[in-house]
Amino acid sequence: MLGNSQQVAYSRGQWSSRITFIFAATGSAVGLGNIWKFPYTAAENGGSSFILIYLICIFLIGLPVLCCEILLGRHGKRNTVNIFYRFHRDYATPLGWRIIGWIGIASGIMILSFYSVIAGWVGAYIFKSAAGAFDNMTAEAVNNIWGALLSNPEQLLIWHTAFMVLTAATLARGVRDGIERVVRYFMPLLLILLIGLVIYNALTWDMQSTLKFMFSFEPDKITPYVILEALGMAFFSLSIGMGAMMIYGSYLPGSKPILGTTAAIVVADITVALLAGLAIFPLLFSFDLNPDEGGAGLIFKTLPLAIGQMPGGHLFGSLFFFLLLVAAWTSALSLLEPFAAWCVEHRSWNRSGAAIATSAGVWLLGLLTVFSFNEWKDITLFDKTAFGLLDYVSSNIMLPIGGVLIVLFAAWVLPASIMRDEIGLRNKKWQKVWQFVIRYLCPAAIIMILFNLLTTS
Ligand code: PHE
Repeated sequence: MLGNSQQVAYSRGQWSSRITFIFAATGSAVGLGNIWKFPYTAAENGGSSFILIYLICIFLIGLPVLCCEILLGRHGKRNTVNIFYRFHRDYATPLGWRIIGWIGIASGIMILSFYSVIAGWVGAYIFKSAAGAFDNMTAEAVNNIWGALLSNPEQLLIWHTAFMVLTAATLARGVRDGIERVVRYFMPLLLILLIGLVIYNALTWDMQSTLKFMFSFEPDKITPYVILEALGMAFFSLSIGMGAMMIYGSYLPGSKPILGTTAAIVVADITVALLAGLAIFPLLFSFDLNPDEGGAGLIFKTLPLAIGQMPGGHLFGSLFFFLLLVAAWTSALSLLEPFAAWCVEHRSWNRSGAAIATSAGVWLLGLLTVFSFNEWKDITLFDKTAFGLLDYVSSNIMLPIGGVLIVLFAAWVLPASIMRDEIGLRNKKWQKVWQFVIRYLCPAAIIMILFNLLTTS
């Protein structure tokens, strides 16, 4: 799968085709963010108003940032820090912009540290479901199973460790080998299962309240906090602002315009998030659970209720959690790839060493999250546990800061011809619109949202 002779001279691989890139980038985007984080964040932030802002953020901000990341990566063909040395050499851009790479690497490490713990919960639920632990359970009993897992740090630690070992082992082999096959077969299956779940829930539970909760227009519920949460969710679910898409773009061959590719990733990403909402919320309403009480455990408290009642639920449930784990794994690889690639390309480590060292660091930081749900759950700062803080600071603050720097660099600092060629908009009018969006609208929107939060909280 490694590239042609010209690439080998660089000793840098590339995806075997554009389609492989689309699969890999979708594998990065679709993950726990869509199925675990989106439903509970939406529930905590008033449902429909959050979802509306989230969708606006995705199209107005997410899509342009994603485009800029991919085009920078493809044009520069280096890891997310060294790429700025290359731009400096070729276009005399200031070297200080490499801060983008460093903020990104830091965000990736922080995100993966809790992501891995959550992926561990999913791992545990594969087995619980297969063993029939949820058969005909009441909401209270399901809640107890969940509580028992959380209050057991050894269990969480074992699963967290297992997931980080898996991530390190795959990272050591290089993400370009095999990721395509995994995503090509497992992702469509996940989508089919999700659709099946939505249909089952629509027939069995309260879909009407769900549709109202997700799609009614309630402008009075929009607050600066909700807007920031929606912005953070857009960045998180699209994997943007930290260089994951930049590094994947750097392995992208050819010079075809990237706007279409980007749109495909965005559509896949929001489809999965919205389907997850449609699959989870009906259970909330049918079992009289309070939408904003689920917290990070929402899907673990609701999905088992459906699994426990449906025919063939054991198999369905374990397959669903298994596929979710696969989705988490393909996202985890992209969270650590920028750092691993830097270790290999800048420090000349071998890939295995880089994978092991970076994963070990993330594992250690992950302990904060493991204990946030039990031993240290009462230790809070700004009303948030260590997990809450890691999540909030990385997703809602660092990713948007990374994102705004990326668009500013691509739109104002690089020669304009690069953007024109890579995006491939022929029509002059559309080119103008695009310019306006990336030069003014998108950066201004991100800055305003961040600033608004600072001044109102
Ligand atoms: N987008 C991934 C998800 O939704 C998480 C992620 C965030 C991956 C940032 C890479 C970078 O689960």
